[in-house]
Amino acid sequence: MIAEKIKRITTKVIIEMKARREKITALTAYDYIIASMLDESGIEVILVGDSLGNVFQGQETTLPVTVDEIIYHTKAVRKGVKHSLLVVDMPFLSYQISIEDAVRNCGRVLKETGAEAVKIEGGKPMIETIRRLVDIGIPVMGHIGLTPQSIHKFGSYDVRGREKGEAENILRDAKALEKAGVFSIVLEKIPSSLAKKITKSVSIPTIGIGAGPHCDGQILVVYDMLGMFEDFQPRFARKYAELTKTIKSSFKNYVKDIKAGNFPNKEESF
Ligand code: KIV
Repeated sequence: MIAEKIKRITTKVIIEMKARREKITALTAYDYIIASMLDESGIEVILVGDSLGNVFQGQETTLPVTVDEIIYHTKAVRKGVKHSLLVVDMPFLSYQISIEDAVRNCGRVLKETGAEAVKIEGGKPMIETIRRLVDIGIPVMGHIGLTPQSIHKFGSYDVRGREKGEAENILRDAKALEKAGVFSIVLEKIPSSLAKKITKSVSIPTIGIGAGPHCDGQILVVYDMLGMFEDFQPRFARKYAELTKTIKSSFKNYVKDIKAGNFPNKEESF
């Protein structure tokens, strides 16, 4: 396992993993406890996703998430991460206004949290910004396909790149991102065949979410894979646990025990 051989996962390690054909594992985290468990499990990449807007804050979209909020969560996650590469999702409007603004916000995030890289959504319109960030030493993970910060443009969370024109644009964006210097690209909710083509066309790793098995790595929202988020259950998010059921029955049993006078018992009292 890579995380056992190498003390800290760096962006360089992530790039080398593609050359070695070693699959990259990634999950999101928003707090210290989950981050510690993920880090211990040997996962290579931990992303403080702006999906925290949905799963932590209960918002309908990721758009309301702020830089201050992402910094707050990343500081907590940082405390639990010793080996994995820690990547921060830059919130909507924190990098789109101008290159200067993007440098200030991405720089602030790395400075204040100790994370190692940022993730930025978008292809062609973001190329100059990404080039500048990479030039000054801020590693960037790209994100194309279904980019949730553009939900109001798309109008739905449907698969992107099904029709030829859009598929060609996504492929072109991937190549442009590689040229601009990103160390990896998230491919979200695109057909497997397109993800395969992109993965073969770029030398940097692709990390899929709802993009099929041919990507160099996979990422999921941690609450989805733990079966803890029931508002929205995407088909691509395999559940490795059913924690909602466990948590709900724990709460019910706690209430039942107190009402019945069974908690606390003698051993639990002083
Ligand atoms: O915000 C997020 O969690 C993400 C990943 C799912 C890729 O962008």
